[in-house]
Amino acid sequence: MKISVLTLFPHMFAGPMGESIIGRAVDNNLLELNIMNIRDYTKNKHKKVDDYPYGGGAGMVMQADPIFNALENIDTKNSRIIYMTPKGKVFNQDLAIELSKEEHIVFLCGHYEGVDQRVIDHWVTDEVSIGDYVLTGGELPAMVMIDSIARMIPGVLGQKVSYMDESIYSGLLEYPHYTRPSEYRDMPVPEVLLSGNHKRIEEWRMEKSLEITRKRRPDMYKKYKNL
Ligand code: ADE
Repeated sequence: MKISVLTLFPHMFAGPMGESIIGRAVDNNLLELNIMNIRDYTKNKHKKVDDYPYGGGAGMVMQADPIFNALENIDTKNSRIIYMTPKGKVFNQDLAIELSKEEHIVFLCGHYEGVDQRVIDHWVTDEVSIGDYVLTGGELPAMVMIDSIARMIPGVLGQKVSYMDESIYSGLLEYPHYTRPSEYRDMPVPEVLLSGNHKRIEEWRMEKSLEITRKRRPDMYKKYKNL
């Protein structure tokens, strides 16, 4: 899969996209990341990318021309072009799975008061928010989405089990995890996990998943029970 990002702050991506599982996916060519600096596509001497809003008001608006130029510089034929905005539909796991099957995704990261509406009308296929709160720009939201999409690409997560667990428990919150030692500062690991009885362990995990989901996310629990 190829992911292109249009941003005014390309350096923000180096750390989060260069380390750990996503970094390895890039190194192993499972994911191609193309980070584009919108400022490189300006045609004016001062590399200006924003201007005052028509009609007045606070803040600046990102101009259409550099973004049009950047998008005309890449192949967008079979692409989803996603604009990160708190006005968009809220991102979730179903959308991550759907997008992980795409050939090419372009993320457009806005700043200030956002981008000229003509960019959205002409290019954007999806407007997406990562939650009901406002951030200073679309970069962190784009990285959140890239992380969750990339881990669904076959081969990116090392062990098959990580997937398996998620499909069995899909729609539920995860059960608690423990590792060695079996007792730490008078806190023992639940006995069942040391029993070696896989059937009992699975039952315990499902029970815990249901319990935590019912307590913390009654909405998810109701949906799961009605499936
Ligand atoms: N830009 C600013 N806030 C955002 C949010 N919550 N989701 C996506 N893009 C944003």
